[in-house]
Order: sequence, then C-alpha cells, then structure tokens
Amino acid sequence: MSTKIPVGVLGATGAVGQKFIKLLEDHPWFEVTEVAASERTSGRLYGEAVSWKQVTPIPQPVRSLEVRPCTPDLKCRVVFSGLDAGVAGPIEEDFARAGYFVLSNSKNHRLDEDVPLVIPEVNPDHLELIPIQRRNRNSAGCIVTNSNCTTMFLAMALGPIHKVFGLEKVFMVSMQAVSGAGYPGVPSLDILGNVIPFISGEEEKVEIETRKILGTFNGQRIDLADFPVSAQCNRVAVEDGHTESVSVKLARKTTAAEIAELLRGYSGVPQQLGLPSAPEQPFVVTDAPDRPQPRFDVNRCKGMATFVGRIRPCPIFDFKFTLMGHNTVRGAAGASILNAELLKARGYLG
Ligand SMILES: NC(=O)c1ccc[n+]([C@@H]2O[C@H](COP(=O)([O-])OP(=O)(O)OC[C@H]3O[C@@H](n4cnc5c(N)ncnc54)[C@H](OP(=O)(O)O)[C@@H]3O)[C@@H](O)[C@H]2O)c1
Repeated sequence: MSTKIPVGVLGATGAVGQKFIKLLEDHPWFEVTEVAASERTSGRLYGEAVSWKQVTPIPQPVRSLEVRPCTPDLKCRVVFSGLDAGVAGPIEEDFARAGYFVLSNSKNHRLDEDVPLVIPEVNPDHLELIPIQRRNRNSAGCIVTNSNCTTMFLAMALGPIHKVFGLEKVFMVSMQAVSGAGYPGVPSLDILGNVIPFISGEEEKVEIETRKILGTFNGQRIDLADFPVSAQCNRVAVEDGHTESVSVKLARKTTAAEIAELLRGYSGVPQQLGLPSAPEQPFVVTDAPDRPQPRFDVNRCKGMATFVGRIRPCPIFDFKFTLMGHNTVRGAAGASILNAELLKARGYLG
C-alpha cells in the first residue's frame, strides 16, 4: 500500500490542473487520488474528459480516475486548486471549512488579510497566518496561496535584494508568454507577429502582491512592504516563459557585482530543507550579455528557478536587470506544490 499523502486536484482538466497532474507524477510525498472539475466534465473518466495538452502522456493511474464535482467530500486532506477565478472563491472556502488544506493558484484569496501568499524562498514565515485564519473562519483546514505568475519571478528576486539593500522603488516591464492565458488562450491571429500591451488585471496584481510577499508578519497580519511598484505588462508570441525588465532604487549603496553575488549564493528554506521540488539554486545568474532567453533557459532546473541576467547600473534608478522564469511551472502549479512540501516539512500535514 502507498504511504504517500493522497491529494486532489480541483480544476484538474484546465491548463494549470493538467500541469499539477504532470508535476505530481512520481512525486515522492504526494499521490493524486482525486480529480475534480465542473459539471461539464464530472462523472466521466479523466482520460476521456480532459483535452490533454502536455507533452508527456496522462499518467496511467490518473487516466482512469472519475472526475468528481468540486464538493468537499473527496477522499484526501490536501487539494491543489487550478480553478477558474470565476468560481474558485467559494469552492476553496468550502474545502477549507471542511478541513482540507487548499493550495491555490487563483487570485481570489491572495490578498485576504488572514491568507498566506507564500514563496518558500522569500517569506516562509507568512505561514504563521494559518492559525489566525483558522480562528477567524472557525475552519479546520486553511487556504494557502501562491502568487500570480509574473509576480513570482519579480518577488523572488527582490526578496534577498530588499533584505540586504532595502528597496525604495521598483519598475518592471513584462513580456509574457501566451501559455499564461490558459488554453486556447489568446487567438493566434491576435498574437502572431504582434505585442499586446494589455493583460487585464495583471499590473494591479504584480504591484500589490509583491508588496504583500515582501511585507512583514506583525503577529496578526502582513504589513505591506513600504515601497511603490510600477508594472507594465505585455503579451508576446512566446510559448512558455515570462521575461521581465526590472529597475530598482535602493536604500543602501552597492554594486552590480554585489547584487549578482548575493543572488548567486542565495539559499532559501526549500534548499536548506531539501524539498523535492526545490531547485538546487533559486537563482541562476548569468554574465552572458544576451541571456536569459525563454527559448534556451525556460526548461532548465525543471522550470523551478528564476533566471537573472544583465545586472547593470541604471541612470534613472540605481540598477536594472532581466528576469525570466517558467510561468506555468514555477509561476503556477510548481509553486503550489512547493508550498505543500513546505507545509509537510513544517508538520502541518501530520
Ligand atoms: N495559465 C496560467 O499560466 C496560470 C498561471 C497562474 C495562475 N493561473 C490561475 O489558475 C486558475 C486556472 O487557470 P487555467 O489557465 O488553468 O484555466 P482553465 O484552463 O480555463 O481551467 C479552469 C478549470 O476550472 C474548472 N471549472 C470551471 N468552471 C467550474 C465550475 N463552475 N465548477 C468547478 N470547476 C470549474 C474547469 O473545469 P471544466 O473542464 O469541467 O470546465 C477547468 O478544470 C485561474 O484562476 C488562473 O488565473 C493560471
């Protein structure tokens, strides 16, 4: 008999849901025993209900699971949520109230005062909101969220920089892959040979989520980090991998070489605990003048690292650099799985 922790995937048929199924195949701690989605697909076998878009086949044991409705009667205590944001809010609350650990990708609860928005390398202490959330909501379970995909790479890189040099201002321009819009996503005739300078709600998410992640737990809630973030988000004709051009103004004087050294040598809690999905190094810092590039770098480190390049002085702010990361792995399903691994390592999952 398997000694792995049984887990469910809510929204298992969607783009993020499929990535969960793929990344959880052969996971050393977790085993997918339940898949759930809307009434359009529930009642059918997963292999027949899903329009599978991953490059590897559907894992055999999941193929024959029956798709269940998203009601809190699944036989597991941990659920990963890749639910459409239009329905995720109340469904995730129902599961948490019924005692489930809900690891969510959706935007709905990220900014709730008592919900942790966690990047394990940056703010693992924000899990201390869990007992507060349970008390507030009279809930046996809890909701733990990961950030929006664009926020992920920005907040991850800014974490160590803020701690050591103090951020005063951040400006970021993104070039975001089409896979971030789910499937079928952006119509090909809109995006081929084109750049779309608008992604609904994205800039607002990046500007506020970054400040929550880099904020301070005050014993009750998170005090937002005290610096402004300005984001401009663009959709580009790249399949996977969000690229971000970042400028920062810092409180302490430093050099580009010191920033590179800080990120290169950085090791967070997931690395120290050896969590199964943790990249060996959270940051891959390159000195090459023309990297990172999504085509060459996006699948390195199993899609879980943040790639950093072109760290150099900025004539308006202090420094500027380029970030890149896999938006549906580290920016979505992989981030939730790493959060679940942190919960297990910290003893929350029993
Ligand atoms: N795509 C990304 O890269 C990305 C990155 C970060 C975060 N996110 C967030 O993750 C979530 C999922 O995104 P996605 O791109 O995977 O969306 P998607 O492909 O449209 O999938 C949505 C999933 O939600 C299910 N669903 C829809 N209505 C439902 C209902 N009434 N009850 C139960 N299940 C329902 C769908 O099931 P059916 O198949 O049965 O309709 C499907 O499994 C969103 O909140 C999104 O903002 C996405």
